[in-house]
Amino acid sequence: MRRDIIIIAFLASRSLAVTFNVPATAPASASALDPAPVGISYEFFTFPAYMNDVASTKQCMQNMRDLSGTWPPIRIGGTTQDRATYDAASSAAVTYSVANEKDAPMTLTFGPSFMSIAGTYAGSVVVGLNREKNNQANTIAAAREAKAKIPNLLAIELGNEPECRLTPLLDDPIPHWRNANARSDAQAQGNWQIAVGNGVGTTPLIQAANSLKNPPEWGAIQLLNVQNATAVSHIKTISHHNYPGGTVQSLMSHSNVIRNIGSFSADVQAAKNAGKPYVFGEMNSATGGGASGVSPKFGAALWVADVSLRAATAGISRSYFHHGTIGNCQYCWWGRYNVGAPYYGAVFATAVMAGGAKIAPLDTGSSNYGGYVVYDSAGAPIRVSVHNSDYFSGSGSRSSQQFILTGLSGETVSAKRLTAPSAESRQDQGQTPTFGGQSFENGSCLATGTAKVETAEVSAGRVTFTLAASEALLVNL
Ligand SMILES: *[C@@H]1O[C@H](CO)[C@@H](O)[C@H](O)[C@H]1NC(C)=O
Ligand SMILES: *[C@@H]1O[C@H](CO)[C@@H](O)[C@H](O)[C@H]1NC(C)=O
Repeated sequence: MRRDIIIIAFLASRSLAVTFNVPATAPASASALDPAPVGISYEFFTFPAYMNDVASTKQCMQNMRDLSGTWPPIRIGGTTQDRATYDAASSAAVTYSVANEKDAPMTLTFGPSFMSIAGTYAGSVVVGLNREKNNQANTIAAAREAKAKIPNLLAIELGNEPECRLTPLLDDPIPHWRNANARSDAQAQGNWQIAVGNGVGTTPLIQAANSLKNPPEWGAIQLLNVQNATAVSHIKTISHHNYPGGTVQSLMSHSNVIRNIGSFSADVQAAKNAGKPYVFGEMNSATGGGASGVSPKFGAALWVADVSLRAATAGISRSYFHHGTIGNCQYCWWGRYNVGAPYYGAVFATAVMAGGAKIAPLDTGSSNYGGYVVYDSAGAPIRVSVHNSDYFSGSGSRSSQQFILTGLSGETVSAKRLTAPSAESRQDQGQTPTFGGQSFENGSCLATGTAKVETAEVSAGRVTFTLAASEALLVNL
């Protein structure tokens, strides 16, 4: 008897639906959407290999383009941009040697063909160049080559995560950098912005800041406080890096996503006040190529989906998810042989924002249940996403949550579900996620499986969906 009572109480608590009202016109607080807000960052030394030796690269990016109509933006950079020297005489795209193919090189050179490869890409390109070696003439020569060879060049970065160079590095101990702090580095960046911008003859050209440490210590605010108008005139975009880390459960938690993105709001506003778009120029679930217990899992896909939408909602124009050493990259969306579960989150977020003009949140971020609404250029809502970030480990029973959307017009809506056996699922271990019933094939990134669209009737402007723990849903209005 007692057992029955407990079960009834349990079911009752589960039936408390979450209600999201969908405003019929874009609220004043809605943020403008970039045509392709979800992008990819490629570690500098390995970019040519991704383009030339990894069959999935083109198809995985094309899947995103097919959804949004715009190739995902790419950024080429990272730790090895500050270990790289341009060699105009080299016929190789990159030259380096490593003891183990899972290592990143401590030093490398790159030739003009590096920029030619980047120039073949049909989407926008940001190239990160060296500042750490303090060889301005070399960086200007490389930037000129980038400008000449990349028709879609969006910006050039000057140095990667400068605050990470403050402690002497055994491999590259350059005194100039050891003495830097946020203020002196902002000044140094300003000098470089002017020198490289003038050297290439393009203003504005520079993606500035590029710090990892959270604002306000490092970021747009401190940079703009230090630099004068001439230096600022060379800034095209301001970039910050973002690696929240944690466990699968804490990473995918919707309220944690809101908290993380919220910590950038003053920095984004400062950039906006200066007329500069703010981007996450490099991000992913955990630093150093990712955490094996977190980054390759479906919970990380739910994080990619949520954080991409939340960043766009907070006025962060583009999020570039980092891809490191091929064959040694836990968070990568694809490699030579596999597609990673997190890729499904990127496809989901791209599909939600495709063709949208504005985005607004549907919730305040106080629970595990979230939602976003996307508006077209006429101001009409076209799509909603709903997120159940309750963690399901894969054992025991999987809870579920009802979501009610209100304020809708029309008679039916269709939906595509993002799901997997659990938050711990990894495609390379046989627990393949699906989005709208389909998966992406290992080694090719081609969609496979039968597409599945759910439909639901709208009654008095309301529609109800049920999401299992660790699922998200795209609703076409
Ligand atoms: C702005 O700062 C740069 C150094 O970053 C300096 O060379 C330049 O003279 C300054 N310009 C003005 C107008 O103060
Ligand atoms: C990917 O590879 C894993 C491991 O071989 C396999 O179990 C899974 O079914 C594959 N999934 C797809 C969609 O290719």
